[in-house]
Amino acid sequence: EKSGYDWFMRKEIFEQPRAVADTLLGRYSDNGELVLDEIRIGPEELRRVDKIIIIGCGTAYYAGMVAKYVIEHWTRIGCEVELASEFRYRDPIVDANTLCVAISQSGETADTLQAIRHAREQGSKVIAICNTNGSTIPRESDAVIYTHAGPEIGVASTKGFLTQLIACYLLGLFLAQVRGVKFGDEIGAVMDELAGMPPRIQRLLDGADEVYGLAHELIDQGDYVFLGRHVGYPAAMEGALKLKEIAYLHAEGFAAGELKHGPIAIINPGMPVFVIVPPAGRDQLHDKVVSNIQEVRARGARTIVLAEEDDGEVDAYAERVIRLPRVSTLLQPVLAVVPLQLFACELATALGNDVDQPRNLAKSVTVE
Ligand code: F6R
Repeated sequence: EKSGYDWFMRKEIFEQPRAVADTLLGRYSDNGELVLDEIRIGPEELRRVDKIIIIGCGTAYYAGMVAKYVIEHWTRIGCEVELASEFRYRDPIVDANTLCVAISQSGETADTLQAIRHAREQGSKVIAICNTNGSTIPRESDAVIYTHAGPEIGVASTKGFLTQLIACYLLGLFLAQVRGVKFGDEIGAVMDELAGMPPRIQRLLDGADEVYGLAHELIDQGDYVFLGRHVGYPAAMEGALKLKEIAYLHAEGFAAGELKHGPIAIINPGMPVFVIVPPAGRDQLHDKVVSNIQEVRARGARTIVLAEEDDGEVDAYAERVIRLPRVSTLLQPVLAVVPLQLFACELATALGNDVDQPRNLAKSVTVE
C-alpha cells in the first residue's frame, strides 16, 4: 500500500522519521543504561574484542563506513570495513577476539552470508544488523540488532540505510558502555541527540519541494559528482549510488580530500557537484571542504552545497545551499543523505523510470 504516494521509494523516504524513532525505541533504560537485549554475546567476550570488521554490500557497506568512524572514535577498538564480496576471498585475519558486524537490510545477501560463515569458521563472533526478522543472516549470527524500518519495498534502500546508521550508533555506544570507556552522562548525551533526529529529518522532508525543483533544473546533465569527507564521504557515496541505481546516470562519489589527487581533472564547466560540508567545529575539516567547493567552482562546476543552517562561509562558492539542521559531526550523515535521496527519487521519476523496480537490480541479491 503506497498510502497516497506515487512510489514506494518516495513513501519510504518520508517514513524515515518514524523508522528512526522505532529503531531507537526501548533501547535506553530509566537508569541511564543502553540496553540491547538481542546481543547475546557476554560482556566478558565483548571486553576481549581487539578488532572489529564490518561487512556489507552497496548501501549497507556505506553504513558500515560511517560505523567505522563512529565505533573507533567511541570505543578506541580498531575497526575495518570491507565489502562482503572482497572479504571472503582475501584470506582475512580473524580470530576469537575479532568481532564481525554484518549489515544487511534483507538478511539474505549471499556475499554477506558467505562472509559471516567464513568469519565464524575462524572462531569470530558475528553481530548482524538487519531489518528482516528471522532471515538467514541473523539466524546464522551470534547476535542481532534489528532495525525497525518496516518492510522496504523499493529496491533502492532509503529507510533501510538510515536505520542501519542508527543501529551502528547504538552498537558503538553499547560497546563503549560494556568496555567502560564511556559512562552514563556521555551516553545519555548521544542518546538525547539521537532522540532528536526524527524531527530534524522531518524538517528536511518538509523542504522536499526545493530539492525537487533542483532535480528538474539539473535533469539533463551527463555526470554528477558527490564530495564528502570523514563521515560525509560515505554519505556522498550513497548519494551517487542512489542516482546510478534509479536514474541510470553516471554519478561518482569521492572523498573530498582526494580531489587534487585525480578526480578534479574530470570537473567540467556546468557539471553538478554536490558537496557535503562538515559542521563548523574544532578541527579543520570544515574549512578544508569549503576550499574544495572553491576549487570546483573555479573550474565552472555547479556547486550544490549541503551545509549547516548557520554556516555562512559556504555562501560565496555555492550555487545552491541545502541547509542541514545542526548536529554533531558523527550524526550528520543521517541528515545529509535525506536531500540526496529526494533528489535521486525526483530526478528518476521525472525521467519516467520505475524507481521501485529499477532495471537490472533485485531487492535481495541471493547469488554471489
Ligand atoms: C542500494 C541497494 C543495494 C543493497 C545491497 C545490500 O540501494 O539496494 O546496494 O544495499 O545489495 O543489500 P542488503 O542490505 O539487503 O544486504
